[in-house]
Amino acid sequence: MDFNLSREHQLVRKMMAEFTENEVKPIAAETDKTSQYPRENIEKLFDLGVMGMCVPKEYGGAGADPLASAICIEELSKQCASTGDIVATHNGLCCDPIITHGTEAQKAKYLPMLTKGHKVGAFCLTESDAGSDAAKGQTEAKLDGDHYVLNGSKIFITNGYVADVFVVFAMTDKTKGTRGISAFIVESSFPGFSVGKHEEKMGLHGSPTAEIVFTDCIVPKENLLGQEGKGFKIAMQTLDGGRIGIAAQALGIAEGAMEEAMAYTKGRVQFGKPISKFQNTQFTFADMAMRSEAGRLLTYQAAVLKGEGKRFTKEAAMAKLFCSEHAMLTTTKALQMFGGYGYTKDYPLERMMRDAKITEIYEGTSEIQRVVISGNIGL
Ligand code: CAA
Repeated sequence: MDFNLSREHQLVRKMMAEFTENEVKPIAAETDKTSQYPRENIEKLFDLGVMGMCVPKEYGGAGADPLASAICIEELSKQCASTGDIVATHNGLCCDPIITHGTEAQKAKYLPMLTKGHKVGAFCLTESDAGSDAAKGQTEAKLDGDHYVLNGSKIFITNGYVADVFVVFAMTDKTKGTRGISAFIVESSFPGFSVGKHEEKMGLHGSPTAEIVFTDCIVPKENLLGQEGKGFKIAMQTLDGGRIGIAAQALGIAEGAMEEAMAYTKGRVQFGKPISKFQNTQFTFADMAMRSEAGRLLTYQAAVLKGEGKRFTKEAAMAKLFCSEHAMLTTTKALQMFGGYGYTKDYPLERMMRDAKITEIYEGTSEIQRVVISGNIGL
């Protein structure tokens, strides 16, 4: 067992750390303040090959493995969790199911769009009455000759109002429960597709979240992803992979908050010495560092298992659960070290704390991760 990153993975980290320092950090506060989608940086991430990086080379991607993608998301999220989220959703929730379940024609059409074509991807599962109970979605897809007609709406869709390609889940047979759900590739240009409400969120202001509405939306029959009735399994498998991305995002948020707090406490003098010299501060950092190490091992383990084609459902859920709770705890404690300054927008801690919260909620709440873990340890 080798716990060291390969040379390639170290280079990916170096490249992404530099990009984060030079391009992401300078605009992170402004992105949060204005709720602007960081379009220029996403375009640069397409140019760097990070958007869609796990897409095989023959379809325009870098043919990278899930660990490389996780490292990129982790580094980006140290300074801007919104940027990490946009990449995680594009790579994990849109490109990945097309790579895994797409026909040759689907891969040849959509994967080059999602890489060299700079088209952004999204994933439509959640509905107003089907959040944690994902199987209860009401969106319907009826076959009508050479196309399906989709009706219904999806909420909380990451990349919702900027994406061009959506992986969408809809009922093709309401009598069959989870076995009556099918997956589709839907383009925003298809007739009957529209974007509804743009969400105003507590954090992740640069990540565009929206409702997506299907009104007699015409989807060509050849855009069925996988077989009819296999959609729920595709959704679950995709979320297994997506949770590695959110674990990496949460880990990055925690690491970023810790770095900021370490720098601050070394310079902040109270009671005659830097507050980093107080044992309370040192013990807090010791705990943070230990949890980051544990979270990194869980996350990278899940990513490596996925890359090896092995089962990783439990490991991804553990990584996501652990790292998201670590992000919330760490940002809260790091903010505390800044005292009153931490509560102001002069420092990034309050943003990091707001951004951290969502990692305990989306792509399966912490409670759902516990359901998944307990279901996979023989209970
Ligand atoms: N991989 C493959 N198949 C799986 C699976 C997995 N990880 N998990 C379940 N399945 C299969 C089961 O084997 C079963 O198959 P059969 O019909 O052949 O028996 C089928 O799926 C149904 O399984 P369950 O009975 O376990 O399903 P359930 O209805 O009880 O739900 C759940 C299980 C884990 C609670 C699931 O509903 C779940 O993960 N919920 C959370 C949903 C979620 O994460 N939503 C986030 C959406 S994305 C988002 O946040 C927005 C965004 O844009 C980022």
